[in-house]
Amino acid sequence: MAPEKLYEGKAKIIYSTDDPELISQKFKNDATAFDGKKKGQIEHKGVRNAAITTRLFRVLEEQGIITQLVEQTADDTLLCKRLEMFQVEVVVRNYAAGSICKRLGFDEGHKMKKPMLEFFLKDDSLGDPLITDAHIEELELLTRAERDEIEQLTLKINETLVQFFAERKVLLVDFKLEFGKDSEGHIVLGDEISPDTCRFWDADSREKLDKDRFRRDLGGVEEAYEEMLNRVNQ
Ligand code: TMP
Repeated sequence: MAPEKLYEGKAKIIYSTDDPELISQKFKNDATAFDGKKKGQIEHKGVRNAAITTRLFRVLEEQGIITQLVEQTADDTLLCKRLEMFQVEVVVRNYAAGSICKRLGFDEGHKMKKPMLEFFLKDDSLGDPLITDAHIEELELLTRAERDEIEQLTLKINETLVQFFAERKVLLVDFKLEFGKDSEGHIVLGDEISPDTCRFWDADSREKLDKDRFRRDLGGVEEAYEEMLNRVNQ
């Protein structure tokens, strides 16, 4: 059967495959920010983010984290397990940047005493708002057990990635994860981990090596993605 487009998001297109348990994720060069209000293209982003995600998911699997990734099937395409995605985004902050500076007045670069976890509702029409445990419970987004398992997985992923990036002279400032459930009911890491979904700073110069260069019109956007691909492959 010809692949059918199941869903087109801001940065990826999801296609069906011959196997109902598998989907194909094609990474796009399209870039958006501020709930899609700012739009653009980042040359080679699809290929670079597919490669970065593949490398990072393999690193996490070595530490026992189950991911959605089956294999990379083209430069910009990953074959993945089909998951029922939770309608939440999980953000971890090791240093303050972005929305938390606006919301709570932290100076950019403030080091958190411990990794800070936040949950956001995945709903573009509401602007993906920050949500509390009470909201998660009332909206039945996650059971208490799922929420706690996701927290433990996220902290382990953070520990693994902080060390992986430190060895490559990169500060992992913050990042966003998405999880889903596979057909057997296991909680699985999905989506992507890339300069679109993380803030990366060079450990020495603190130069930004992520999508903030696009969000804030800092220039050198393509070069930052290229640099991060080189660093993860070191
Ligand atoms: P924030 O500072 O805008 O809340 O973003 C925190 C982290 O989450 C940052 O690394 C970027 C990432 N992120 C996404 O991947 N998708 C999103 O829609 C948003 C708002 C943030």
